[in-house]
Amino acid sequence: MVTKPTSCTALSCPAVPLHNGLNIPILGLGTSHYGGYSHEAVLYALQECGIRHIDTAKRYGCEEALGKAVTESGVQREELWITTKLWPGDYGYQSTKQACRDSCARLGVDYLDLYLMHWPDSMVPGRSSQEVRLETWRALEELYDEGLCRAIGVSNFLIPHLNELKDCGGIVPHVNQVEFHPFQQPMKLVEHCRKENIVFEGYCPLAKGQALTHPHILELAKKYGRSASQICIRWSIQNGVVTIPKSTKPDRIYENCQVFGFTLTSEDMAYISDLHTNQKLIHLTFPIWKG
Ligand SMILES: NC(=O)c1ccc[n+]([C@@H]2O[C@H](COP(=O)([O-])OP(=O)(O)OC[C@H]3O[C@@H](n4cnc5c(N)ncnc54)[C@H](OP(=O)(O)O)[C@@H]3O)[C@@H](O)[C@H]2O)c1
Repeated sequence: MVTKPTSCTALSCPAVPLHNGLNIPILGLGTSHYGGYSHEAVLYALQECGIRHIDTAKRYGCEEALGKAVTESGVQREELWITTKLWPGDYGYQSTKQACRDSCARLGVDYLDLYLMHWPDSMVPGRSSQEVRLETWRALEELYDEGLCRAIGVSNFLIPHLNELKDCGGIVPHVNQVEFHPFQQPMKLVEHCRKENIVFEGYCPLAKGQALTHPHILELAKKYGRSASQICIRWSIQNGVVTIPKSTKPDRIYENCQVFGFTLTSEDMAYISDLHTNQKLIHLTFPIWKG
């Protein structure tokens, strides 16, 4: 059982350097659609847990609510790392620029810390995904040059997608955000990103809760006197992966932050690494949603 703090706790959270010299906090709070957003929980994360990194997306439909929570929290903008994502329905040169400005307006901020292309596929009728991807990336590069985005990156990109951007010779993405948890460990992609100076960020660190009942995770939780979620988050962070667990419950958010006071042994890291089954919770083929 985890006890909640009674007063504001500063979170001593290490950061990972991007190739442009910025540092992204290794632990952030995820948000999402379908009941994935709670005003109370975001306020609690900012005010009581010292969380300074929040991940969202236009797709999640909570940018405006998040902006209000940030303002209400009283945390200074410059102390925060805010990531949001461009939805494929907005891919294309002009529409990307407009979508970025719209996200900033909904969030109530003058700039984003990180702006990601949400998916590699564009599905714009009559145009190849590759053509649209490259045009979209050019718009992101300009948003970066203008200072509207302090860092730019991609999400769910595979090695060929990253190589395609590399071949164009522009800005190397600062981050690639990809599914990463005990059952899904795309280590070739992780290594490729490292080699190319792209920070690897992992989403669904708890496998949407499914990893929390696995006997190996429960065994380690008992051994370390930690919760199953802390074991999963610690394992991800100890792999050097930027990690963004989502919870709408203050006590769980607090629990998910308490991951810097212990270390998994290399044997126990390997024990979790053995759980890889290539199970994917998020699939790349999806009906395009315009909005
Ligand atoms: N780029 C992409 O395509 C993409 C895709 C998916 C996700 N993401 C990002 O990654 C974030 C995390 O992913 P996710 O939300 O899908 O999965 P997740 O973080 O692996 O799991 C979230 C689930 O675990 C539960 N949970 C959280 N902490 C818990 C705890 N301590 N004990 C028990 N249950 C706990 C949550 O429920 P409660 O909320 O009820 O606590 C929720 O059901 C998202 O919020 C989003 O920001 C990005």
